[in-house]
Amino acid sequence: MQGVARNFFTLAILYALCGMALGLHMSITHDHAQMPVHAHAMVAGWLMSAVFAFFYHLVPAARLSWLAQVHFWVSAVSGVMLMVGLYFLLAGNAAVEPIVAVGSMAFYAGMLLFAFIAFSTMHKPAVSGSDVYLDGTDVGRPVKNSPTR
Ligand code: HEM
Repeated sequence: MQGVARNFFTLAILYALCGMALGLHMSITHDHAQMPVHAHAMVAGWLMSAVFAFFYHLVPAARLSWLAQVHFWVSAVSGVMLMVGLYFLLAGNAAVEPIVAVGSMAFYAGMLLFAFIAFSTMHKPAVSGSDVYLDGTDVGRPVKNSPTR
């Protein structure tokens, strides 16, 4: 795994460790007030970041675009704003609401950017004479000496 793919997978693991620790804390204390933060850390953090990581790993042309770097940083910064802000909001600090609002909208903007990157890369044609599409996937030509299935 390289570049943006590796960055996203590192971020995913950090979310999983923090989110599961919060889940354990909720279970042990029988206080589930932070359940939305745990659920978002696990799903919007761990699962979404892992999906982005594997997409960029499997589609090399997508991770080479500078837009992929922008996607990573928008997602990482807005995700932390959203989840840390939500934690303090649920703990009773109403003053952090604007941070949660900006984080949420920026997180959505990151997803819009990913939609653009994914759609534009997936629909690029194969380069003539090449064995791979621009996105790095094989055009389907049989590989020499490989067993046929
Ligand atoms: C150490 C592991 C984990 C612990 C101790 C834990 C604990 C909890 C607890 C105590 C709740 C609150 C339940 C409630 O108040 O109704 C919860 C909710 C939730 N957890 Fe976890 N969890 C863990 C791992 C995960 C993982 C791996 C995921 C997803 C990848 C996840 C996703 C969710 C979601 C989506 C909810 C919200 C469910 C709902 O809306 O009722 N959790 N978890």
